[in-house]
Formats: sequence, structure tokens, C-alpha cells
Amino acid sequence: MRVLSGIQPTGRFHWGNYFGAIRQYIDLQGQREDAFYFIANLHALTTVRDPSQLRQSTLDAALDLLALGLDPEKATLFVQSDVPEVSELCWLLMTGTGMGLLERCVSYKDKIARGLSAGVGLFAYPVLQAADILAYDSDVVPVGEDQVQHIEVTRDLAASFNHQFGETFVLPKAQVLDSSARVPGTDGDKMSKSYDNTLAVFEEPKPLRKQIMRIQTDSRPMEDPKDPDTDHLFQLYSLFAGDPQREAMAAVYRAGGFGYGSVKKELAGLAEEFFAAARERRRALEADPDQVEQILADGAARARKKAADVLLRAQVACGVKA
Ligand code: ADP
Ligand code: TRP
Repeated sequence: MRVLSGIQPTGRFHWGNYFGAIRQYIDLQGQREDAFYFIANLHALTTVRDPSQLRQSTLDAALDLLALGLDPEKATLFVQSDVPEVSELCWLLMTGTGMGLLERCVSYKDKIARGLSAGVGLFAYPVLQAADILAYDSDVVPVGEDQVQHIEVTRDLAASFNHQFGETFVLPKAQVLDSSARVPGTDGDKMSKSYDNTLAVFEEPKPLRKQIMRIQTDSRPMEDPKDPDTDHLFQLYSLFAGDPQREAMAAVYRAGGFGYGSVKKELAGLAEEFFAAARERRRALEADPDQVEQILADGAARARKKAADVLLRAQVACGVKA
């Protein structure tokens, strides 16, 4: 059984990325026979066009994931472009991909609607994602709701290749990550780097405190009782608070007579403590770039071995290799 997922290095990871995805990847790493996680730098190239930024973000993503608990003894961590077999497999898949299938992809339509120019890379993005998944005979792909359609595309492409050329690919299943982990941003909308409302996991305590103080709250009088369940500050607080703490805070909300400033202060303290050990580990890793390079090189070697087998199988099946 292999679990696989990828994450794009398009900016520093925020609380939404951690609670919505990374924490769950880390939970899964001990449970499955094999866990493969990679940094999707080729996908990021569809939007990040500054080479030094892409290099830096890729390294940052590796440091962040390791510092947050991704364990190279339990999971294989690698950079997407270190496995060129995937790009080759992508072409084999592309020759059998209908335009209509990609035209229906919501994430492409969304990006175009947000003003990104329509490019072939952006359009073919799901085919590269399919190659990522199929190259390792992945069984389970943990992803956010927004990526489920791409796993469906992967299954379609795999099934039609298998149908034309004989059994070649394993059909993967999406495992939708816990949607209750949808983290609100500082403005109450979904936290996302596209909305400029993020709180970064590895922010230094002082600037983090400042950003937390700027979380938008309503302007009702202090005396009014408030409903914790509809308050995004309370949702953020709940990410870090234990059950008794959360219950106590909920009671404070319902009773009224408190200021949001005190909740924000408590939140800042909890968040700082929650990520303190990871920040320490990150500093240690930063001071040892050789170790990180070695982890990524070992990961890529393991990943390449598997991808080479699958690529050969596909090449023979479709007749580009004897
Ligand atoms: P962004 O929206 O900031 O661009 P990405 O789309 O790169 O983030 O998301 C990477 C991963 O983090 C995905 O698996 C996604 O589901 C998860 N994720 C992103 N934002 C949130 C959020 N606010 N709450 C929960 N999960 C999130
Ligand atoms: N498209 C995914 C995202 O934006 C990242 C990704 C690339 C991925 N290749 C993948 C996720 C393969 C799962 C499997 O979140």
C-alpha cells in the first residue's frame, strides 16, 4: 500500500496548509507501508517565474516539512524535478488525453478567472499530476477537496491507458483530508496565500503577535454575549487549545463582557508554544544543509527506482520500447 501526495512550493506554509494538509501527511507516515511526499516544483513553475525564488521556496518547503515532523525514516521525501521519469510519463499520458477532460477542470478555470494567462503548462497541469501519482503505483492520495477532480482525471487517464494498452497502472483513490480542518484567515475567509490573509507557521514570535492582533473581529459592544461557533478568532484559537481550554473560552464568549484583545493574546501565546519545537528543529536543519541535501537525494533515489520500473512498463505497453 502506498500513500502519496505533493505540495507546491509557492510561498511559506501557513496554518491552513499545516492543519489542512501537512499534519495529516505526517499522521499517515507511520500507518502505511510506504509514504511518498514530494515538493511539486514543476507544478509551481506554472506560476512562479523567478528562479531564485523557486529554488528558495523549494528548500524552504523541505526544511518546513522536516521540521514539522516528516520523518525520512518513515516517509520518502523528494523534489518532483529530481525524478525526470515523471515528466517522460507525463508525455505518454498526454498523447491519450482529450482536450475536453482538461477543459472541465475547475482549478484551471479558477486560475484563468483570477487573471493568470492561459498557458499550456497550466492547462496540462492535471496530466503532470496524474504522472506524479501513477509513476509510483500509488494507492491512496490524501488531498484537499479542491484536488479531488484531479484524482478523478488521473483515474480516467490510467483506465483509458490500461484499456488501450493492457493493465499498466494502478488506479489510485483520493483520501479527502478532514474538511473540518478548513482554517479561516485573518479576515475570516478561507486562509490562502491568494487572499493575503495568512498566518505563517514559521513566523517569528514578534511579527506573528502583530499579525494576530490584526485579525478582524466584529465591533459589537464588549458586554454582548457572542456565539463562539460563528467566530473565526475562536476557530483559530481552537486549533491550538486543548478541549478544557476550548470549553472555557467558549463559556467566556457566551457570557460576554470580554475583549477580543485578550483572546488574541492567548492565541499568540498558544501558537508560539505549539510551533516552538518545530522552530528549533528548523534552525538546526538550516545549520546543516548537507543533511537536508542528503535526505532529498536519498528520497529521490528511492522514488526514481520505483518510477523507472513503472515508466518502463508503460513504455513497453504503448510500444515506444521493445
Ligand atoms: P493556498 O490556498 O494558500 O494557495 P495551497 O492550495 O497551496 O494553499 O494548499 C496546499 C494544501 O493545503 C492543500 O492540500 C490544501 O487543501 C491545504 N490548505 C490550504 N489552505 C487551507 C485552509 N485554509 N484550510 C485547510 N486546508 C488548507
Ligand atoms: N496540485 C496539488 C496542489 O496544488 C499538488 C500536487 C501536485 C499533487 N502533484 C500532486 C497532490 C500529486 C497530490 C498528488 O495541492
